[in-house]
Amino acid sequence: MADALKEQLIKHLTDVHSIEEQALQQMQVAPRLARDPVLAGAFREHLIETQEQERLVRSRLDALEADPSKIKDLAARAGGVGMVLFARSQPDTPGKLVSHAYSYEHMELAAYELLSIVAERAGDQDTVAVARSIAEQEAVMAERLAAGFDRAVEASLREVARDDLGNQLGKYLADVHAIEAQAVQLLEQGQAMAGDPDLQKVFTEHLEETRAQQAAVQARLHARGERPSRFKNVLLRVGGLNLSAFFGAQPDTPAKLAGFAFAFEHLEIAAYEQLMRVAQRAGDDETARLAERIAGEERAAAASIRARFEPAMQAALRQQGIGAPAG
Ligand SMILES: [Fe+2]
Ligand SMILES: [Fe+2]
Ligand SMILES: [Fe+2]
Repeated sequence: MADALKEQLIKHLTDVHSIEEQALQQMQVAPRLARDPVLAGAFREHLIETQEQERLVRSRLDALEADPSKIKDLAARAGGVGMVLFARSQPDTPGKLVSHAYSYEHMELAAYELLSIVAERAGDQDTVAVARSIAEQEAVMAERLAAGFDRAVEASLREVARDDLGNQLGKYLADVHAIEAQAVQLLEQGQAMAGDPDLQKVFTEHLEETRAQQAAVQARLHARGERPSRFKNVLLRVGGLNLSAFFGAQPDTPAKLAGFAFAFEHLEIAAYEQLMRVAQRAGDDETARLAERIAGEERAAAASIRARFEPAMQAALRQQGIGAPAG
């Protein structure tokens, strides 16, 4: 195995290792925050899977005889990626917990797909096999969470009296409005950093779509008589997104960026799926239809991003001086 390729492989293994370490912490607190027995059970089950995943990844690092001090170094930098959105804020409702977890599972899925591309290039079939089997588990966990959107909404609204539903709906709308503001930032910065021209095109097109989504959400907020100060407060609380601080120094940016954007689209999908359910309960059909439509747009964007994982990874490897694959 060429040295440069082996270094990349170790780097990606280190990334997924630190992602799993963060996942372990999340899976330990999630059952308590879920306030629903089925959701709590899904998190508990995934804690056991995550423990095994962490062990498998560590065994691949051992097999490659990765230098422990170097791993520590790489992990310190990798840790930031998961922190950007997912670990930083402690979700305050079961619904937000499920949104974050759903997004996190997709970040893991992306990281393992990228790992398997690198391992394939390096001819390390054992790592390819580990990456594929863990990716499958992450996808299954994401499905369990998606099947729990109803329960998440139920648990979040349980203590809200029926006449307060309209007020709750305003909160959900203000939240997706803030998420779209972050999406605009992500896509604006992403365009400039994409590296791969087709990935850049996906970002540019979705940026335009995202602005329209935010405007449509804002129109629903106005139509419902929400004061702008309410959703501006949410914007301030959520804060800005500075991707270059996390990705800028890393030479494999295009691939990581694609994985992060893919995860972000799933944060949006989960938020709109729940908004749709709350709007239905509140009898606001127009908001329910809008949420369903936007969720579909986010799914399409996620699929377009995923289709660029391979070229983005190849672009990242080229930037590392690793040439095109033979054959
Ligand atoms: Fe995992
Ligand atoms: Fe996971
Ligand atoms: Fe989006």
